[in-house]
Amino acid sequence: MRVAVLGSTGSIGTQTLDVIAAHPERFRAVALAAARSETLLREQADRFGVTRICLSDGRMQGALSGPQGLVELATDPEVDLVVVATTGAAGWEPTLAAIRAGKQVALANKEALVMAGSIIAVEARKMGAVLRPVDSEHSAIWQCIQGEGVADSHLMAPRDISKLILTASGGPFRDTPKEDLEQVTPRQALAHPTWNMGAKVTIDSATLMNKGLEVIEAHWLFDMPYERLEVVVHPQSIVHSMVEFEDGSTKAQLGVPDMRVPIQYALGYPDHLPYAELPRLDWSQTLELRFQPPELERFPCLRLAWEAGRQGGTYPTVLSAADEEAVAAFLRDEIGFMDIPRLVEKALEAHENVPDPDFDVIRAIDTQTRARVCEWAGIARATTLTERA
Ligand SMILES: NC(=O)c1ccc[n+]([C@@H]2O[C@H](COP(=O)([O-])OP(=O)(O)OC[C@H]3O[C@@H](n4cnc5c(N)ncnc54)[C@H](OP(=O)(O)O)[C@@H]3O)[C@@H](O)[C@H]2O)c1
Repeated sequence: MRVAVLGSTGSIGTQTLDVIAAHPERFRAVALAAARSETLLREQADRFGVTRICLSDGRMQGALSGPQGLVELATDPEVDLVVVATTGAAGWEPTLAAIRAGKQVALANKEALVMAGSIIAVEARKMGAVLRPVDSEHSAIWQCIQGEGVADSHLMAPRDISKLILTASGGPFRDTPKEDLEQVTPRQALAHPTWNMGAKVTIDSATLMNKGLEVIEAHWLFDMPYERLEVVVHPQSIVHSMVEFEDGSTKAQLGVPDMRVPIQYALGYPDHLPYAELPRLDWSQTLELRFQPPELERFPCLRLAWEAGRQGGTYPTVLSAADEEAVAAFLRDEIGFMDIPRLVEKALEAHENVPDPDFDVIRAIDTQTRARVCEWAGIARATTLTERA
């Protein structure tokens, strides 16, 4: 299988290349893309013998550039499967283009489905495309529903499922009192207890926005109404998510937290390929698993995401764009940790919903939201999707 890795220099991207290198008989990297990491991108291209490359936020000899470069790689006739592992808003246009070009898509970039889920999910179903989840929670659900009853399409949950239960580690501030959260620094927030990930998703994990984005992602991936989605805090990150059936029977997928497992499953589906380096649970040791409900008052981002998802239309686009700007500003030390939910809430309150947005509406609302958030917070405005295009 010929694979394009968009975001190859990041946490998911480099682990995807590890998986590809472990199975040369099954996978071949044929296209790579990054935003700015030119040196690493060049090294990866040399190591894997890849000539189709894109540096979307820079210039590099022999490489494509700009958002259009990502779309070109995602639709290249030499590519069978596209791994979308870019951060933030950069993922949704190449995802849609890949689906329309009839490619297999392994989706790590959850923001794509949050921002434009109504368009992407409908298009995927129309094209008969399988959106292969890379996120460990959605991969767990996907693995749990294999071989289960009738579904209306490949990825949709079977009809006899009553609930999908997403697990959350709770992040580094699971037990931090509310008043102390105001003082949290980027350095503290970047120290995730169980997963080693890129900066944006790590901060989202600390605010629990990440779980909120995953709820919206699960809604679209599995065609599951919000009232049948549940989040439970599970500090050990061993149970990656669960599926409850109509008779109360519950299936879970377990494993040592290592993103190469869901990445490899997304690439090798439906096979669980051997990979000696992957860690295993040690059942000879005592293993304690704890579960508790999330605290929405201390972690308002999860509540906001849930509300935005339920309201639908362009609310999730606003949620995602506001969060991306706020997280970038927090990482630059320009706003406080709890300013992230404040800014997101303000953006949602100021928004007038568009129920069935098309491509252009989503782009315009993304730009408008970023501008508003930056103005309110007095922070530098990051480049928007539209400006880059
Ligand atoms: N890391 C995880 O364990 C994990 C788990 C589940 C889901 N996810 C999701 O996977 C996605 C990637 O996360 P990550 O942790 O791998 O992020 P990351 O380490 O920050 O890497 C992001 C990658 O995307 C590239 N990129 C960013 N903007 C781009 C653009 N406009 N055009 C082309 N490439 C661009 C970056 O290139 P540069 O290096 O040049 O900046 C880098 O290669 C996120 O949506 C995240 O929520 C991650």
